[in-house]
Amino acid sequence: MVRYPTDTQHAQLDRHFSAVAGRYRRLRDLDLRTARHVAHLLTRLRRAGPLRVLDIGSGTGRYLEAVVQLALAEHGVLCDALACDASPAMLRIGAVGAPARPVGLQRVAGLAELLPFRKAAFDAVVCFNAIHHFDLDGFLRHASRVLRGAGMLIVYTRTREQNQRTVWGELFPHFGERETRLYSAEELQAAVMRVPQFRSVSLRVARWRMETTPARLLRQAMGRCYSTFDFYEPAEFNAALHTFRWRLLMASRTDSQLTVQNDHLVVVARRY
Ligand SMILES: C[S@@+](CC[C@H](N)C(=O)[O-])C[C@H]1O[C@@H](n2cnc3c(N)ncnc32)[C@H](O)[C@@H]1O
Repeated sequence: MVRYPTDTQHAQLDRHFSAVAGRYRRLRDLDLRTARHVAHLLTRLRRAGPLRVLDIGSGTGRYLEAVVQLALAEHGVLCDALACDASPAMLRIGAVGAPARPVGLQRVAGLAELLPFRKAAFDAVVCFNAIHHFDLDGFLRHASRVLRGAGMLIVYTRTREQNQRTVWGELFPHFGERETRLYSAEELQAAVMRVPQFRSVSLRVARWRMETTPARLLRQAMGRCYSTFDFYEPAEFNAALHTFRWRLLMASRTDSQLTVQNDHLVVVARRY
């Protein structure tokens, strides 16, 4: 049974993403290595015309843009790419200053659990940092419906365990325990295998060591770069931020340098 996100959950998410849309690209880091890996995976789907790629929960479309750019630049693969998101604000902001054609994307508002596209319309469905917002079974069923035979689903996400090991999980008070929406690797694998149209699923850890600075991390937190911060009351958030600042000072070798771990999981499923 599909458990559509409730109106309250939607309204809360919509408020969050409308508020952060304007600063989202600036605040969030991009895992270029994984974008390159995804572009490489797309080469397995070569067809006569451009590859039809759908990104669900695309936000501004920053990952889709990177993948499409890399597929063209490094493999000569042209994509006809569509960014789909529940937040009109994220889509609108994404369209401003986005790279020009042939990398330009189309943008469509829509829900992961009710994808407004016809059957077999896409060669690949991708999803970055968003699956924890969706009803998992509803999304996977729709993804398999809009994929053509032998099409590919690629999901990039942090698992609950990986989230605990990030700088946020380790140093920002209660971050790991407040973020209850993320899935484990086993849950994701089992959910894909429940959809009869998917014939194989593989999981791979995307290791990501990032150079950052305490100042950038603090700016990210103050800018509410993760919707997890919505689970703190204002006073509680300020207290947590204060502790985070102190912990960062203790953890950084110098004032300006910090290497942090931000591992993710890449799930790849092929359709029959
Ligand atoms: C953390 S952001 C990730 C955005 C983008 N993929 C990225 O990595 O930059 C999650 C996105 O999922 C979208 N979203 C949340 N629930 C959704 C749903 N049920 N259907 C479609 N999009 C949804 C939000 O509006 C938001 O833009």
